[in-house]
Amino acid sequence: MDYDRPLFFRVMQYADAADRDVVDMVSGNPDWAPPEALREGLREFADREPEAFQYSASEGDRPLRAAIADRHGVDTESVFVTNGTAEANHVATACALDAYPGDEVLLTDPVYPYYAGRNDLLKAETRYVDADADGHLDPDRVAEAIGDDTAVVVVNSPNNPTGAVYGRETKRALVDLCEDHDACLVSDEVYDAFDHSGRFTSALAFDSPNRVVTNGFSKSMAITGLRVGYCVVPAHLQDAVRTRHMLTTIAASRPAQAAVLRALRETPDAYYEANRQLVEDRIETFTAALDEAGADYTAPEGSFYVLVRFDGFPGTLENVERLIDEAGVAGMPGEAFGSSRTEWLRFALVTPRVDEAAARLTDYLG
Ligand SMILES: Cc1ncc(COP(=O)(O)O)c(C=O)c1O
Repeated sequence: MDYDRPLFFRVMQYADAADRDVVDMVSGNPDWAPPEALREGLREFADREPEAFQYSASEGDRPLRAAIADRHGVDTESVFVTNGTAEANHVATACALDAYPGDEVLLTDPVYPYYAGRNDLLKAETRYVDADADGHLDPDRVAEAIGDDTAVVVVNSPNNPTGAVYGRETKRALVDLCEDHDACLVSDEVYDAFDHSGRFTSALAFDSPNRVVTNGFSKSMAITGLRVGYCVVPAHLQDAVRTRHMLTTIAASRPAQAAVLRALRETPDAYYEANRQLVEDRIETFTAALDEAGADYTAPEGSFYVLVRFDGFPGTLENVERLIDEAGVAGMPGEAFGSSRTEWLRFALVTPRVDEAAARLTDYLG
């Protein structure tokens, strides 16, 4: 997949330049507020001594690592704080490629495009495994694709762009397959706070040297700009991850880590529940309008994206630009997510105007 320059930017620029009002449903930037304790943590940090503005420990501030470890019931040493889940994915994939035999990385189709671009950057061979029509991943298909050349299997649940949540059995099967084939599962769980199905299971539920879990606070705390993520790494990969992370970025932002730690400690569950409910209400509003228009869509079990198919209107970049100009709604072309959803468009429910967007879409295409 050719992915040198993310299409997100191109579509967002096109929408910004449009000569009309456009409802922006392109990016994964939440429009809801971060936790109050996060803001307080940033304010408090601003008045700290000069020493506090210097590098944190490369692996991450110890109290934050301990708090993350505590949440997941893992050892603090296994937690590395990174510049977003993006860096965690990068470091995990690169280190697993080095550590395991073979130079192939299995991805799903549809795929989160940065995984595909990263494989090219790392000069890995990419093999795609098709997800089911509803976005679920059938471990039997992974079993057919995985082989001696496979070093890494990257999965994402709750999923961007399908919204699928892989259940416990699937995660168990993926860990088993990686163990049986001397490969590493990289399980990206950045949308775990947005599980609408109640079926989300972390790969951390299965103790194994053959899996890395990546995650972060961009989505759960609505802070994509702060760049705090982490990976949970088995003992045999920890030196490699430590070195690669240090040589790439030295450390994650210290004020951001301090603010996230405060938010982790002080934010009530009600904050996460309210945002999940907000997304669920938007899903209901958006999909009800799509139902009326007779459009096909995948109702997300998790995350905050909806894939939609309108008859005779494939998910090309050209059609996305037409929708911006003629309907006033900006989404992402399905062709950005691999080859299996080229008929589809992806809309991110990160605007209070989802009802208006649905009305505009159905007026134009319904
Ligand atoms: C599947 C997936 N992984 C990772 C990321 C990046 O997360 P972060 O902002 O924590 O780097 C995103 C962002 O949209 C995503 O959709």
